[in-house]
Amino acid sequence: MDEMDRVTVIAPVNIAVIKYWGKRDEKLILPINDSVSVTLDTSIMCAKTSVCFGPEFTENEIWLNGVKTSFSNPRLVNVLDKIKNIAATQRSVDNAVLSWKVRVCSENNFPTAAGLASSAAGYACLVTALAKLYKIKTDVSVLARIGSGSACRSVFGGFVRWHAGVNADGSDSIATQIADSTHWPEMKALILVVSDIKKHTSSTVGMMNSVNTSDLLKYRAKYTVPRRTEEISEAILKKDFAKFAELTMKDSNQFHAVCLDTYPPCVYMTDVSHKIVEIIHAYNDMCGELKVAYTFDAGPNACLYLLDKEVPTLLKLIKYLFPTSNLDFVIGLGDVDGGDCKFLNSFPIQPQAKDIIKYVIHTKVGKGPEFVTSHLLDKKGNPLNVK
Ligand code: DP6
Repeated sequence: MDEMDRVTVIAPVNIAVIKYWGKRDEKLILPINDSVSVTLDTSIMCAKTSVCFGPEFTENEIWLNGVKTSFSNPRLVNVLDKIKNIAATQRSVDNAVLSWKVRVCSENNFPTAAGLASSAAGYACLVTALAKLYKIKTDVSVLARIGSGSACRSVFGGFVRWHAGVNADGSDSIATQIADSTHWPEMKALILVVSDIKKHTSSTVGMMNSVNTSDLLKYRAKYTVPRRTEEISEAILKKDFAKFAELTMKDSNQFHAVCLDTYPPCVYMTDVSHKIVEIIHAYNDMCGELKVAYTFDAGPNACLYLLDKEVPTLLKLIKYLFPTSNLDFVIGLGDVDGGDCKFLNSFPIQPQAKDIIKYVIHTKVGKGPEFVTSHLLDKKGNPLNVK
């Protein structure tokens, strides 16, 4: 067999500052409100996916992080069907090609055990790669959305808005870029990975329960989010950190309030998460202005947004308050020396027990998906790195 067409893509993780929570259509993954996120640098955290197809393959196959997995996941099947339908309409490939089976091989460059959203990066990779393989011209954010809602925001770098849209077919439920990754280079993120073994309700199930039972979610979608998405987009464009931070923290808090208003409640934040909230408020109070913002997704880990001049001081405080035995405690962009935290002795919160934060990922705003030539499938379409 000749060398086959392989397409490989890396795509970023994104962390929302105005949260998506609740669908109006489960199959098309249409949200009840707009959301806004920050795309994080792929050199620190990314998913990588290779795809290929061929007449000799007898079934669709997928490998995730080196392990062969069933292709029967309905979202995966929906994504592939949608892309093939577009290819058929656009006549972008021969009819025979449409009957070929595909192979997908995907991995993350960060531990999935960290409990960080990896499906967004994974689906953004997959659809970008498949759209190129099938030579289709379309809005890839719509394709990514069908895989996982938040994935549609990972098809752009920088600061991204997912418009809920109003059309029943989802054609206007797309992501757009508010500003690219070069717009606010001072913006950094610290992800505090909390030690935790609890299995949390998945976002998909949690948000379905919220839509069915939470009155607060209705209020949030109708009144709060429309105002906040406008305000935060403006704060991003003006690089108004204090406004950005205030909206980010308030939105995280309201999202978790909705989770508690859900029946039965979904409890994602832990005592450690709440301690982090307390610490950030105390820090901002001592600074006399908002210097750091926290946000929490459907799990206990905190994502802190801050400007780079604040990073050394905050890292010093985190290491003081969360003593660690991990020699590699700050990964990614790494530890930054020289932080002089003058509040350490007068800080109103005492150091916590050892090792309750596993590690900190120090990262920054980054670009959208990129094509690369280091494939995860060999020239015959067989996966490399199988476990
Ligand atoms: C709390 O995108 O994972 O991270 O669309 O069902 O796949 P599905 O859900 P998903 O939900 C993400 C929820 C969130 C908030 C956000 O990223 O906006």
